[in-house]
This record gives sequence, structure tokens and C-alpha cells, in this order.
Amino acid sequence: MSSSPLNLTLTLSLLLTFLSPLLTDAHRCSQGFITEMNKINVTQNCRRKALSLGVQFGWNFDQKSRQLDIAFGSRLDTETGWLAWGVNPQGLRMVGTRALIGIRQHNGSLEWDKYNITDDTKRGCRLLPSDDIGLDVRNFSFVYWEGIDYYVVLATIFLPHEYNYSRTNVVWQVGEAVAGRTPLVHSKSLNHFDAAETIDLVSEKVISYSAHNQRRLRTTHGILNIVGWGTLLPVGVIFARYFKKFPMEWEWWFRFHVMCQTAGYILGTIGWIIGIWLGNASKYYCFRTHRILGVLVFTFTTVQMFALRLKPRWSDEYRAYWNMYHHALGYAMLTLISINMFEGIKIMEPNHAWKWAYIGVLGALGVVAISFEIYTWIKFIFVKAPAKTIRESGSIDKNEPRLDGLT
Ligand code: HEM
Ligand code: HEM
Ligand code: HEM
Repeated sequence: MSSSPLNLTLTLSLLLTFLSPLLTDAHRCSQGFITEMNKINVTQNCRRKALSLGVQFGWNFDQKSRQLDIAFGSRLDTETGWLAWGVNPQGLRMVGTRALIGIRQHNGSLEWDKYNITDDTKRGCRLLPSDDIGLDVRNFSFVYWEGIDYYVVLATIFLPHEYNYSRTNVVWQVGEAVAGRTPLVHSKSLNHFDAAETIDLVSEKVISYSAHNQRRLRTTHGILNIVGWGTLLPVGVIFARYFKKFPMEWEWWFRFHVMCQTAGYILGTIGWIIGIWLGNASKYYCFRTHRILGVLVFTFTTVQMFALRLKPRWSDEYRAYWNMYHHALGYAMLTLISINMFEGIKIMEPNHAWKWAYIGVLGALGVVAISFEIYTWIKFIFVKAPAKTIRESGSIDKNEPRLDGLT
């Protein structure tokens, strides 16, 4: 038994290694983008956010005149689309951003305008162009660089003194739907929310990019939840369902059920605490459904774990009712857990590694459960069921030692 924590650590490190490409964020611009920028004399700095929408941002900044020349580009894969770049004097967030937005219309024509993004935008009011966004913007245009299939916002901005150029909050976004000159709401997955960073325009140093600190924790949260709630709990249920008495009797079923449920609960709870921490650290957005389902999962599995101390014996009158409740809550939890897994996976889109990893786990558990189920039915129909009832045989009580120390 002493090797199981070691095995677990090894498995987790293997998984982290497997998922490590998801943890790195290459920020060198592509050679194609740099070549195109050189043609328009934007040569000083360039950053690529590989994991946040694959955008590339190049700029020149002159401290004396405070002139900032920008080239901000991304692919637009849908028929219509928009690309936004802005600065926010109020903080590292969407609301308060003064944005330059380029729009590609149905007919392929390109339009561009300036926008003030306010609380109303977040609440769903139409985002309309604004003449005054508090910035002196010149040579603003939105172009298509055919050679690299990039749409690019180009502009020269004279940065007002209220903006600290060594700590500038840069915010960006890519969206699909538009209505005339109004860009419509963007997707609400994490890579669309990790779209702001504080940078030093002179040294190109990133002062703050919230996702940096959180990427490892998000991965750990996902892995612990998939292993704890998503794998160990169902495996434990399989032991209780098929090894208790029928179709197979194995005296260790109870110990295995309790072991799997306890280990799953501990790992899942650590994952859950990390989730709550991550949710609280994301000040400006929230994944409400995932949070509510996550809290329900934790609460009711905790209730389920009360079985460690409160499970009645087979000889107790109300044991049959306890069974009903424990079975019903147990299966309800397994359902809720798999729904919430997909909610969590949706947050991480378009990264499909999570989806396939979890579908793999579900598929494997499904094959095992269906095989046992078929075996149970075959045995039930063709072989005589045990003559004595479980209660009469007394063997179940023997296999279920008291865990509360009362006997
Ligand atoms: C077109 C109209 C837009 C709408 C309706 C919209 C709506 C939203 C909403 C509702 C959220 C928060 C989701 C939540 O709390 O669950 C959000 C987050 C975000 N949006 Fe937008 N958005 C729009 C345009 C933009 C633009 C143009 C930018 C970039 C310049 C942008 C950048 C962001 C960022 C970085 C976040 C992450 C949270 C934050 O920083 O506040 N959005 N958006
Ligand atoms: C049943 C399993 C799961 C439970 C109980 C759970 C629970 C939670 C909870 C309670 C939060 C806090 C939400 C908030 O306050 O906004 C959270 C956040 C999060 N979950 Fe899960 N989760 C589960 C599975 C997953 C999976 C499988 C993934 C991805 C592969 C995932 C990805 C995330 C991410 C990325 C966040 C943080 C979002 C942010 O930065 O604000 N979760 N989770
Ligand atoms: C989150 C934790 C747990 C979950 C999700 C869970 C779930 C389940 C489920 C779904 C079954 C029914 C299997 C079937 O179809 O026959 C079951 C059976 C059982 N569980 Fe748990 N369980 C948990 C924890 C525990 C703990 C901690 C104990 C004991 C200390 C326990 C004791 C039992 C017993 C004795 C049975 C067999 C009941 C019977 O006689 O049919 N469970 N569990």
C-alpha cells in the first residue's frame, strides 16, 4: 500500500508532462508577422500570445514624443469577425478600455472605428463607435496581410500623460458576430478572458498577466478533478455494485469501495479548493454554472462520506432506507460530476486535450460497467440467483466492518 502515494505522484507528473505544451506561452512573434511589420517600419517590439487567441502585437514607442505605433493582428476564421486592441487607464480589464476595433463584414469589406467600452457593454448594451475615446489616434486603419492570412489593426497613438508607459494596461479581443458597425459579444471561454496584460512599452517587460500564475493551477485543478471525482468515485461504485454479492461475491468489495471513495473525495476536494481559489482570483469574470454545480458536487459528496460514521448495520431496521438514499444520492452525484466535467472542459476550449482525456476515462469506465451489467443479466437469467436473501446470509455484515469504532 505504501507505494500508492508514489504511484499517484508519478501519474500526476506524467500527466503534467503530457499536458506541458498547454502550460507554455511562446511569445516570440512569427517570422511572417515580423517581416510584414518591417515593411511598415514597426521594428522595435513584438509579442505573441499563443494561448490567448493567437494574437500578435508589434509596436514602436518613443518616450520623448510619447508616440506609439501599433500593429495588432490575428486570423479571423469566420465569415464575419472583429479584432480589438485597446488601453485601459483604470485597470487590467475590459470595462474602461479605449479600443480600436476592426470589423470584417459579410461581403468581405473592412471597417474600423474607435469605441469606449463601459459597464453597459458588459451588461449587453450595443457597443457603438465613439468620436472621443480620450486618445489622439492617427493613421488608423484595418488591413488584411494576405501573405500570412492576418487581419491587422494599424494606428499611431500619442499617449496622454495619464498613461504610465512603463505600466500600460493593454487589452485585446477577437469576436465573430457583428451587426453593422457594432461588434457583438465575444466567446466566453478562458482564452477570451485572459486577454489583458500590463507591459512596459519601452523594455517590452510584462509586469502582470494574470493567467501566468494560474495556468499550472488550472491544469492541476482539472487533473485532480478528473482523477478524484471523475475516476476513483465511479470505480468505487463499480466495486459496490458488482462485487458485493451478485453477480460476484468478493469479501474485499467494501474495503475497496471505501478506499476508492475516500481517495477520490480527498483528491477531488483538493481540486475543488483550487477551483474556488481560482474563481475568487478572477475578479472580473465568473463561470456561474460551473461554480454552482461544483459547490453542489462538493456538498453532497461530503454528505455521502458521512457513511464512514453513520452507516447503519444490516440488522438495523432503517438499513433499507439508508441503502435507497445512499444509492440515489451516489448515482445523482456521478451524473452531476460528469455534467460539471464538461462545463469545466468548456471553459478551457478550444483546447481539446481535456475533452478527449475525459471522454477516454468515461469510455473505459462505461465499457467495464456495461460488461459487468451484461454478465449480471446473463447470470440472473441462466443461473439461479442465490437462494438466501442477503440479510439472512449475514455475510454482508461480515464484509462490512464497522468504521466508526462503535463495535
Ligand atoms: C462587443 C461587445 C462586448 C461585449 C457584449 C462583451 C461582454 C463581456 C462580458 C459579459 C464579459 C464578462 C463575462 C463574465 O463576467 O462572465 C467580458 C469579459 C471580457 N471582455 Fe468583453 N465584451 C465585448 C467587447 C470586448 C472588447 C472590444 C474587448 C477588448 C478590447 C473585450 C475584452 C474582454 C476581456 C479582457 C474580458 C475578461 C474580463 C475582464 O477583463 O473584464 N470585450 N466581455
Ligand atoms: C466535477 C469536477 C469539477 C468541479 C467540482 C469543479 C469545481 C470548480 C469550482 C467550484 C470552481 C470555481 C468557479 C468560480 O468560482 O468561478 C472551478 C473553477 C474552474 N474550473 Fe473546475 N471543477 C471541476 C472540473 C473541472 C474540469 C474537468 C476543468 C477543466 C479541464 C475545470 C476547469 C476549471 C477552471 C479553468 C476554473 C477556473 C476559472 C477561473 O480562472 O476563474 N474544472 N471549478
Ligand atoms: C462520495 C462517496 C460515495 C459515493 C459516491 C458512493 C456511492 C455508492 C453507490 C452509487 C452505491 C450503490 C452501488 C449499487 O448499485 O449497488 C454504493 C453502495 C454502498 N456504499 Fe457507497 N458511496 C460513497 C461513499 C461510501 C462510504 C464512505 C461508505 C462506507 C463507509 C459507503 C458504503 C456503501 C455500502 C455499504 C454500499 C452497499 C449498499 C448496499 O447494501 O447495497 N459508501 N455507494
